[in-house]
Amino acid sequence: MVAEVLAALRPKPGGRYVDGTIGGGGHAAAILRGSTPSGWLFGCDRDGAALEAAAALLSDFGSRFELKRGDFSGLADWLEPESCDGVLLDLGVSSPQLDWAERGFSFQQSGPLDMRMDTRQALTAARLVNEASVDELIRIFRDLGEEPEARRLARVIENERRLRRFETTRQLAELIERVSRRRGKRLHPATRVFQALRMAVNDELGALRCGLMAALTILKPRGRLAVITFHSGEDRLVKQFGREYSRAYALPGEADVPELRQPVAAKLQWVQRKAIRPGAEELAANPRARSAQLRVLEKI
Ligand SMILES: C[S@@+](CC[C@H](N)C(=O)[O-])C[C@H]1O[C@@H](n2cnc3c(N)ncnc32)[C@H](O)[C@@H]1O
Repeated sequence: MVAEVLAALRPKPGGRYVDGTIGGGGHAAAILRGSTPSGWLFGCDRDGAALEAAAALLSDFGSRFELKRGDFSGLADWLEPESCDGVLLDLGVSSPQLDWAERGFSFQQSGPLDMRMDTRQALTAARLVNEASVDELIRIFRDLGEEPEARRLARVIENERRLRRFETTRQLAELIERVSRRRGKRLHPATRVFQALRMAVNDELGALRCGLMAALTILKPRGRLAVITFHSGEDRLVKQFGREYSRAYALPGEADVPELRQPVAAKLQWVQRKAIRPGAEELAANPRARSAQLRVLEKI
C-alpha cells in the first residue's frame, strides 16, 4: 500500500519520518524518495535479516537514514518527543519471513517450530506448544487466532506431546489437518493456530499497544501516524487507541456515562474515519494483502 502510505504521510523535504517495521525497506525507500533531497528516516525492525535487506536497499540514500534493531515499542526511548512528521507501522510478518522455512512461520513448508521475529529472544513456538498449559493454548488459539476449535485442538496437542515433542511446523500442521473438522475448506485448517502462535511468541498486541503510545509521543503537532493491520485484533486496538485520544473527554471508569465525562484536550484526530483497503491491482499482484487495512491519525 505504498501509494496510500505516501498520501497519508505526505513526505516533504526536510521532514523526519519513522518506519517502525522497516522489513525489506520498500516503504522506507518510497518515503525517502518522496522527501528528496533532505528528508530523514529512522527505521527499526526486530528482525536482523530484515535490517540487512533494508540497509542494502537504502544504501543510495547516503546519510539520510538511520537503522536500529529493536521493537517499535522503544521508539520514544530513541527519538526526541515531538520530533517526527510521520510514523509508519506496517504490522505482521514480511514475505521473506514467511518464505524462509528455517524461520518456522509457515505451515506450508517444513521448518523448526520457531516463529521469532527477533531470533535473540528465548521464547519460541516450540516452547509454547510443548510447555504451555492447555488453558493457555486455548486462550492463545481463541483470542489471537479466533479459532473455533480452540479447545479441541489444544487438547489434541496436549495428548500428542505426551508421546513426542513438537519440533517442526510440518508436525503441527499435519496433526491439525488430521483432526480438524474444517478440512477441505478454503482456509487451511492450521492457518489460525499458526497466526495465533506467532502473535503470542512475538507479543504482537502488547508491542502494538506500547508502539502506538510511543508514536503519539514522538510525533510533532500535525504529524501523522499510519498503521497497516492484517488482523482484526490489531485493527480493533488501533481503532480503540484512535477513539480514546481523539475525544475531548476522559472516562473515570470503563463505561461511558455522559454525566461522569471529564473534559480534556483531544490529542489526535482521524484523517479519515474509514479504513483504507488495497486497490484491485495490488490485490491481484499480492494476494497476502487481502486482509490489509490502513488507518491514519494526525496529532493535534
Ligand atoms: C509487513 S513487514 C513490513 C514490510 C515493510 N513495510 C517493507 O516495505 O518491506 C513487517 C515487519 O515488521 C517487523 N515487526 C513486526 N512487529 C514489530 C515490532 N513490534 N517491532 C519492530 N519490528 C516489528 C517484522 O519483523 C517484519 O519485518
